[in-house]
Amino acid sequence: MPVKVEKDALTGTETTGHEWDGIKELNTPLPKWWLYTFYATILFSVIWWILYPAWPSLTGYTKGILGSNQRLEVEQRLAEARARQQVWLERIAAKSPAEIKADPDLARFAMVGGAAAFGTNCAPCHGVGGAGQSFFPALVDDEWIWGGTLEEIEYSIRHGIRNADDPGARAAAMPAFGTDGILDRGQIRDVTQFVLSLSGRASDPAAAERGAPLYAENCASCHGERGEGMTALGAPRLDDAIWLYGGTAQEIEAQIWRPRLGVMPPWQGRLSDETIKMLTVYVHGLGGGQ
Ligand code: HEC
Ligand code: HEC
Repeated sequence: MPVKVEKDALTGTETTGHEWDGIKELNTPLPKWWLYTFYATILFSVIWWILYPAWPSLTGYTKGILGSNQRLEVEQRLAEARARQQVWLERIAAKSPAEIKADPDLARFAMVGGAAAFGTNCAPCHGVGGAGQSFFPALVDDEWIWGGTLEEIEYSIRHGIRNADDPGARAAAMPAFGTDGILDRGQIRDVTQFVLSLSGRASDPAAAERGAPLYAENCASCHGERGEGMTALGAPRLDDAIWLYGGTAQEIEAQIWRPRLGVMPPWQGRLSDETIKMLTVYVHGLGGGQ
């Protein structure tokens, strides 16, 4: 029996034919564009379930026929990056820091790798970017306690300084002139004035004059006649404005009385050979390499 389509008189919309208590239900279907989009999303999700991991199950999840796995992808990408790095690291391993430095591509890789290793291992003492801080030497300047050639820097890093862990550690002690009774208070004050005069800062010329022979006798063998320093003995320069332990009369006196004798751990065995070479190139390239 053909259904007679009835139209609502007020709106002109077809009714569904349902009627309750005189109220008729209008037939207003969803817009076509909405409906098709809805069907499309259902279709899309079904295809997605088939292709990709989707539903959890008791033992795991549906894997999808594409075998896609983002964790695996990340691992693969990391492995690729490591493999690519490995090529560079092998080249670094086969060369000396000087050869690395001479190869622009390798040098760039070493500077970046060295900077990363420096940030983690060295910056706590030597400051960010090797800027130094009190009691720890700056590595960005061209003043070197132990020498600024690639070989000397590499040695300092490998073996460290005044540590008990490495028999090859750089070792040089300054005598404790005060606590060991080599010089008395007055003499230490005089020699301090002489040290200040080396950088043109003596405040008491008479004391500096008295300190000169004391310096020649007790200090020049390590720090040089004019305080020019001696890298072979790890004796810092005293004739300029760069001070490891501070350059005021008080700080210099304290060092002469009882030297602090800075310690640096050895890095050989702690860091890989490649990392040490990259650090060497990095430190040398900070500005003051010789
Ligand atoms: C625990 C603190 C400490 C850490 C960490 C440290 N150093 Fe040092 N380093 C020192 C001290 C202290 C000296 C100076 C010792 C002295 O001669 O009085 C020094 C000296 C040096 C020197 C010699 C500087 C010169 O003027 O001759 C180099 C090069 C150096 N460090 C590189 C590094 C590198 C690279 C690292 C990281 C792998 C590092 N250091 C980590 C404390 C540290
Ligand atoms: C045996 C070698 C030796 C002798 C002798 C010696 N020194 Fe030193 N001096 C050093 C060394 C090594 C250092 C760095 C050691 C440290 O980290 O404490 C140093 C550090 C210093 C410093 C600190 C420099 C800075 O940058 O802060 C001063 C100042 C100094 N010496 C003054 C003197 C004076 C003055 C005398 C003589 C009375 C003297 N030294 C004798 C080896 C020597």
